[in-house]
Order: sequence, then structure tokens, then C-alpha cells
Amino acid sequence: MPRIYLDNAATTRLDDEVLQTMLPLMTENFGNPSSIHAHGRQVRSAIERARKNIANLLNASPSEIFFTSGGTEADNTAIICSIDTYQLKHAITSPTEHHAVLHTLEHLAKQGVIELSYVKLDEKGRVDVAHLEELLSTKPRTLVSLMHGNNEIGNLIDLKQVSEICKKYNAIFHSDTVQTMGHYTHNLQELSIDFIVGAAHKFHGPKGVGFLYINANNKIHPFIHGGSQERNMRGGTENVYGIVGMAKALEIAYRDMEAHKNHITRLKSRMIEKLKANIPGVTFNGDSADVENSLYTVLSVSFPPSEDNDMLLFNLDIAQISCSGGSACSSGTDVGSHVLGALNVHPGRGNVRFSFGKYNTEEEVDKVIDVLTEIYAKNVLA
Ligand SMILES: Cc1ncc(COP(=O)(O)O)c(C=O)c1O
Repeated sequence: MPRIYLDNAATTRLDDEVLQTMLPLMTENFGNPSSIHAHGRQVRSAIERARKNIANLLNASPSEIFFTSGGTEADNTAIICSIDTYQLKHAITSPTEHHAVLHTLEHLAKQGVIELSYVKLDEKGRVDVAHLEELLSTKPRTLVSLMHGNNEIGNLIDLKQVSEICKKYNAIFHSDTVQTMGHYTHNLQELSIDFIVGAAHKFHGPKGVGFLYINANNKIHPFIHGGSQERNMRGGTENVYGIVGMAKALEIAYRDMEAHKNHITRLKSRMIEKLKANIPGVTFNGDSADVENSLYTVLSVSFPPSEDNDMLLFNLDIAQISCSGGSACSSGTDVGSHVLGALNVHPGRGNVRFSFGKYNTEEEVDKVIDVLTEIYAKNVLA
């Protein structure tokens, strides 16, 4: 059996249809979209078609979509530029956000630009919305940054509920939707939200490209100064093939969403059932085992204490299984997951994030279960 890839929250395999759409923009259609001659115009129209297609899928206006180098840049732009433009002095986030949000806000707090508050979470990592309201009612105009779907534990927030609370207190609301974009529909006509983001490589598009949705009511300062690209919001020659590939990937994601959601949910349920049946003492972090109410792509598993837990990811890797201990974005650093830390997960347990995608199969799940069953048949500490 070929290697098994269960790390789709880190990144996904490029869809072949997407690759075919991108190839001509790497070869014959190579013009600079800012050039006014025919080579340039042809590429400019490909970018604007991509913008329109993405906007249509999200029920937004093309003028609300700005292309970026990925999720991190989109998050940084929303946070830094809204705080700067509106001279905000306070922000609220949660300790389980992605570092693209957390480190950006912490940097601004350290510089004394803002005061930063953290919303309370329960033991499952769920946001305490009553505490959010309490914070909003006592602070000056605030930026709220709360992610839609957590990349490590799969918790989801109710975007509509949070956006209504933010509206009530005249707060600016940014949501990091990197993990839900292309996996759930986002209807921006029905949501009162200022900023959401997408990263193409999380939905079978190319790496190094993403977008920021900026609600038309907001006119924020640019993040990258330079040429007049992206209507003066982001200088720099556009990642043309990336943008066109991203639009195609999102189109496919929306087209096939129901089928993929059903397929992936079945895989996740199978994994949960088999883990429970084969590994005594296994538990699940956050909401991820609540199949109906969590990100269907993510399962965060907590294995019982074992002498081999330190080597768990290594042993899975040797057994031809690619998965992740926390968020792969920080792998290589030796720091434990800040998300699991915020949940007070017992340090002696072995934590693995399995994240599923449309190319995974039931046979792969069964193989992973066989490997894990063998690992935990020995060495489990009393
Ligand atoms: C929730 C979340 N936000 C932001 C990012 C960063 O996106 P990118 O890698 O495109 O910069 C990631 C990537 O793992 C993510 O999972």
C-alpha cells in the first residue's frame, strides 16, 4: 500500500483539474497583468474572472476580494490594517487561534498598540459567548478575531451568532476561515462580518496563494505598499497561476462539497468507532469526536500514557503514515501545541491529529487502526 496521507489540515494534494487550469498561465499566457498590451490584458482578464468566480461562490462582490500570498498574510492584513485604520485600542481573541492571528495580536499588544483580551473557553475549548459579550460591553471599540474552525481540535464557532454579538457592540469582526473555506459554504450576504480569509492549499489548490474578503463597508489601509495592484491594497505582481488555480479549486470544492463531506464524515466516523473498539483508554480532544458539530476533516486523538508516546509520530511515519502532532505549521520547533496546552490536555498522553481529505479511503483508515492497535497492544502504562 502506498504511503497514507492523513494531514490534510496542514495541506492538501493539488487537484489535477486545478493543475490543468494553471499550466497555460505558466507557459503561453505569461504576460504581466499590469501591462496594457494584449499579453498583459489576457492575464488581467484571467485574474478578474477568478476574482468574480470566488466572489460569486461566497455571495460577495468581486470588489470585496483581495488576493494574498496565503492565509497568514490575509490574517495579518485584516488585523494590522483594521487596528491601524480605525485606531482601535482593544482586541479580543482566543488562546486556541492559529499563530497567524495570535502572534500578530500579541506583537501589537507588546508594542503597546492595543490591549489584548482572551475570551474564556470551556474544558472542550468552546468559546464562552457570554464572556465575549461581557468583554465587549466594558471595552472601547474592539477588534474580535475568532476562527471559524480550529485546525488542531476541529471546534467550530457559530459565525452568525458571533457576528451578531459583534454588530451589537459595533466591534470589527475578523474570522480566520482557513480551515472551513472550501469545506463549508460561506454566504456573505447572510453574515455581518468584516473579514474572512482563504488559503488555496487547504482545498486542493496551490500553495502560496490566498485571499482576504473585506466587507465593502470597510476601507482599510494597505498592508503591502508598492504598485497599484489589488486596487492599491497590495503592491506586487500577482501570483497569476496561483490565483487562477485557487478559483478553480474553490469552484470544484463547492461543486463536489456534499459528496466529499459525506465521504470524509464516513471516514472520520469509522476511525472514531474503530479507535474506541481497539484502543482502551482512547479519548478525543476538543469537539473533534462530535461528528455533527466539528470540522469534519479533523480528528484529534488522545492516546493513553505509554512509554512509546514520545515516539508515536515517528513510529507512524515509519509505518508509512503521515499525520501531525499538533499544527504542522510549527513543526520543527520543539514547542508543544498551544491549543492542547489551553485545553490542559494531560502531558503523558499521546496526541495525534488525523485530518482527512477527499482522496482518503476506508482501506487507509483500517490500515492506520491496525498499526495503532499494534503500538498500543504493548507498553501502555497503568
Ligand atoms: C487556521 C489557519 N489559519 C492560518 C493558516 C496559515 O495559512 P497559510 O499557510 O496559507 O499562510 C493556517 C495554516 O495551517 C491555518 O490552519
